[in-house]
Amino acid sequence: MNNFASSLNIKNKFLILGCGFTGKFFAKTIRQFGCTVLTSSRSKNKDPNSFVFNSENNTVPSREIFDGVTHILSCIPPGRNGNDPVLASFKSHLKSLSLEWVGYLSTTGVYGNTKGDWVSEINQPKPFQKRSHKRLKCEKEWIESGLPVQIFRLPGIYGPGRSTFDAIRNQTVRVISKKDQVFSRIHVADIAHAIIYLLQNKNSLKFHQIINIADDEPCSQIEVIQYCYNIMGLKMPKPISFEDAKKELSPIAQSFWMENRRVSNKLLCETLGYQLIYKNYKQGLENCFLDSYKISNFL
Ligand SMILES: NC(=O)c1ccc[n+]([C@@H]2O[C@H](COP(=O)([O-])OP(=O)(O)OC[C@H]3O[C@@H](n4cnc5c(N)ncnc54)[C@H](OP(=O)(O)O)[C@@H]3O)[C@@H](O)[C@H]2O)c1
Repeated sequence: MNNFASSLNIKNKFLILGCGFTGKFFAKTIRQFGCTVLTSSRSKNKDPNSFVFNSENNTVPSREIFDGVTHILSCIPPGRNGNDPVLASFKSHLKSLSLEWVGYLSTTGVYGNTKGDWVSEINQPKPFQKRSHKRLKCEKEWIESGLPVQIFRLPGIYGPGRSTFDAIRNQTVRVISKKDQVFSRIHVADIAHAIIYLLQNKNSLKFHQIINIADDEPCSQIEVIQYCYNIMGLKMPKPISFEDAKKELSPIAQSFWMENRRVSNKLLCETLGYQLIYKNYKQGLENCFLDSYKISNFL
């Protein structure tokens, strides 16, 4: 990572709200910079730096948890009622703090269906799914909160422990073909490192409130699946057409196939100068494969 004339330092205290797949990766990475990190999850766990926050049953931590916090990253999706769980529980308290930065993980679903065209931050969101309408509403709530918020729109997130290799091993993979359908994706390490890059260079880069984090090469799902089968030395099952497969897909799984877009990362990678670690699914999946190999060898 270049430019260490950084606005990040060991005095920074991060609160990661919603420490799931991405939150955990971010926490691990930012700790390597010497920052203090507290994380939330919906149920109690053994991590001494974790606390419980669950907006659905009103389990809210005491306000002291925010003492000394300089940075917040929210990885929590909209609540069932469509409101943002963090703002619904803490907005006025957050506004009373001297926060340097708030990050909000959103989704590129807010762009809706572009029928395979490229879409960037300057395009007007046109959400198609109900959940994407909720998401856009949450984005607006964050922007209107007046907090120093930066929104990251993410496509399909994968990484070690959550990739097509895992789907093949768990026998949950579905080999579906749909003409001209592509998906954008991003390796979890690039989400963490892109955000850290922006924080490190906060004082020298022009501030953009909404930024896509996606890799360079949107492509069909089947291309990715075929690549994984090849690496594993296995034969990919015969593809099923989307029309045939959809009868057996859950409504949520079906909904992902109803949108087709290529998400541009030009703002992040050209204008702002972030260099992707994994430019495409091949590089990213290689990392996932090596990681799982490391784990199985270790066990
Ligand atoms: N997965 C994708 O491919 C994808 C793509 C685009 C955007 N996104 C969005 O990006 C963000 C991070 O994604 P992810 O896949 O890393 O998410 P994830 O693994 O599902 O983690 C979500 C976190 O939010 C917490 N959470 C959920 N509902 C909550 C509530 N009502 N109150 C308090 N905490 C709550 C969960 O708690 P527990 O730890 O207790 O489960 C978990 O820690 C999410 O907003 C997600 O919707 C995801």
